[in-house]
Amino acid sequence: MNVALGVGGGIAAYKAAELARALMERGFTVDVVMTRAAEEFIRPLTFAALTGRKVHTQLFSAASADDTLSSAIDHMRIAQEHELMVVAPATADLIAKFANGLADDLLTTTYLAFTGIVVVAPAMNTSMWNHPATQANMAKLRERGHVIVEPGEGLLACGVIGPGRLAEPEVIAEAVLAASRAKQPRQDLEGETILLTAGPTQEPIDGVRYISNRSSGKMGYAIAEEAAARGARVVLISGPVNLAPPKGVTMVAVRTALEMRQAVMDHLNEATIVIKAAAVADYHVANAPAQKVKKTAARLSLDLEPTPDILAEVGSKKGDRLVIGFAAETGDLVAEARRKLEQKNCDMIVGNVVSQPGAGEPATGFESDDNAVVLVTRSGETIPVERASKRAIAARILDEALRVRLALHASH
Ligand code: PMT
Repeated sequence: MNVALGVGGGIAAYKAAELARALMERGFTVDVVMTRAAEEFIRPLTFAALTGRKVHTQLFSAASADDTLSSAIDHMRIAQEHELMVVAPATADLIAKFANGLADDLLTTTYLAFTGIVVVAPAMNTSMWNHPATQANMAKLRERGHVIVEPGEGLLACGVIGPGRLAEPEVIAEAVLAASRAKQPRQDLEGETILLTAGPTQEPIDGVRYISNRSSGKMGYAIAEEAAARGARVVLISGPVNLAPPKGVTMVAVRTALEMRQAVMDHLNEATIVIKAAAVADYHVANAPAQKVKKTAARLSLDLEPTPDILAEVGSKKGDRLVIGFAAETGDLVAEARRKLEQKNCDMIVGNVVSQPGAGEPATGFESDDNAVVLVTRSGETIPVERASKRAIAARILDEALRVRLALHASH
């Protein structure tokens, strides 16, 4: 996991170097972001030498226009590329800025742009720590769900004895480790290889035209992301879509149903679970011409022939794989889903409620960010899953898939 280590300007800043080392010993990649005040206490070079990585110090650099642009977007990049941010020492000033959303340097701007786990290790003089303003600011950070590594009590640099001393680097590193583990998705798909199809297919009519459908690929890509996050190896065979490839997934880009069939068969042996979320064209033009057809005839008929049914072929070669199909129906969804389950020898069919949007309500099924489905299983269950984001629906599909497999194994 990548950790951004924010270093504030306090006498305890030198301990951040030990913290960087302790984090690296626990397997984290550490990128340091320092405030200008922190540089008064410890040099960026120390962190660069320890971590072997560039140390980030400035929101704007005046070296050149290019440098200025790249440093101006540094805070966004740091925020996006790290899952966890730990700030140690967090001074009273930094805590006040975090609490109130002030962003006037690289560290505070990065904090505002950051959406991951935040761990804060305060360090300051006892009176500053006890001040109602600091305590009110700390309460806001706690409310936000940040992990606070409480300061210890002892003799502070200012000669006062009391709370305010930065927690030991080992203690902070352990808190970071615990926070990172707590937020990690369960790895219940480790050891599985999921062969997944997504998106539409495009079936050429001639050199420039094709038949396709409204599938955006969002449902299939959400399953790929969820499965990869839960530890599966994912092979995603995708028709043409406008989506970024999910992280950590093996992508195979295809266009036609025939190409999709070939890619599925090429990877079938590796798969322990097959999920067919793609909307495959049922027909294609036999021998479509490579050139553009001229507009000469008054009427034109297309001679369509069926494409291979990939899911049915997978079902016939199923072995002990789990096979999950999709169904998009505008009629009797459950009956159709069950018919497809039997016909294509599947363990589960995900029936999409392809709705027409009501007033003020977005549609589900094709193209939408949300979905509502009915899961029809081999053991005869019909499980409605209410409208939720496609990622949440993906999580439920995978949960039920594992449960169906357990039930099937138990019944054998
Ligand atoms: O991509 P989105 O915009 O997010 O929308 C998601 C979706 C609605 C497209 C998706 O969730 C979905 O329902 N996909 C399957 C739609 C469909 O084509 O259903 P079908 O009834 O035509 O096919 C049934 C099953 O057989 C599907 O698993 C399909 O992949 C498979 N099939 C169909 C035809 C064919 N020639 N080969 C196949 O493998």
